[in-house]
Amino acid sequence: MSNLIEMIDVKKDFGSGETLVHAIRGINLRIDKGEFVVILGKSGSGKSTFISLIGGLIQPTSGTVTFEGIDLSKKSEDDLARMRRTEIGVVFQHFNLMDMLTAIENVELPLLIANTPKAERRPLAKEILEKVGLGDRLLNYPEELSGGEKQRVGIARALINRPALLLADEPTGDLDTVTGDMIIDLMVEINKDLDWRPTILMVTHDVTKLREGMRVLTMRDGLIVDDRVFDGSDPTIFDHFGLPSEIRSNVVSK
Ligand SMILES: Nc1ncnc2c1ncn2[C@@H]1O[C@H](COP(=O)(O)OP(=O)(O)O)[C@@H](O)[C@H]1O
Ligand SMILES: [Mg+2]
Repeated sequence: MSNLIEMIDVKKDFGSGETLVHAIRGINLRIDKGEFVVILGKSGSGKSTFISLIGGLIQPTSGTVTFEGIDLSKKSEDDLARMRRTEIGVVFQHFNLMDMLTAIENVELPLLIANTPKAERRPLAKEILEKVGLGDRLLNYPEELSGGEKQRVGIARALINRPALLLADEPTGDLDTVTGDMIIDLMVEINKDLDWRPTILMVTHDVTKLREGMRVLTMRDGLIVDDRVFDGSDPTIFDHFGLPSEIRSNVVSK
């Protein structure tokens, strides 16, 4: 598989002096096209910062982030904005739908921003809404949809531009367990079945959301402390990776 994202010795600090925080303390990583990568870690471990660096929303304090072989720090603001619009889809925990727009209008929005004519927008939005199982909800407003349905609209909107990368920060955080599991199953399907095989990077702190074959990065204190493909065994084993290394090595050896 070919390289989509590479991080070389990436560090990110916030603030200065007494408020200085080392949010990311040195990450080296390569993500290939088509991978389904899950970022696990406790609150404050740096997961959202890591995602923002990959999406080009923030710049590293030091080190290099490349996307499709291009160093993000070498891109102009315009190029970065275009990359975020067309090559990266973002799924939000709180869905972030527009209340005054129907499901299909919400999904069309990124195409509207890209100046795609209305006659082309409708069929594309309809097709992707059908793919996420909402073919019968096209004209409903967000307030008429369940939480799971809203997140399906959010996922369809994120996919409408056929992005190479889908970023999702706690996409099941506002959903009950059963609905959340259905959303994860949908994301697995998207990763496997859509013709352009989008790469998925998903943050969660819930080990029950893991599925066999996912690559799991465990973060602690701004570092990736574990990187493995989940083999489908008891996912609670990942709870242990937040522990200090001397304890962890007694729990599981790599
Ligand atoms: N914009 C910011 N300004 C200052 N500190 C920040 C900012 N974003 C994140 N941090 C700090 O960086 C650390 C990592 O945060 P974050 O990436 O949000 O972790 P997570 O998503 O794992 O909960 C935390 O200590 C957090 O307070
Ligand atoms: Mg976070």
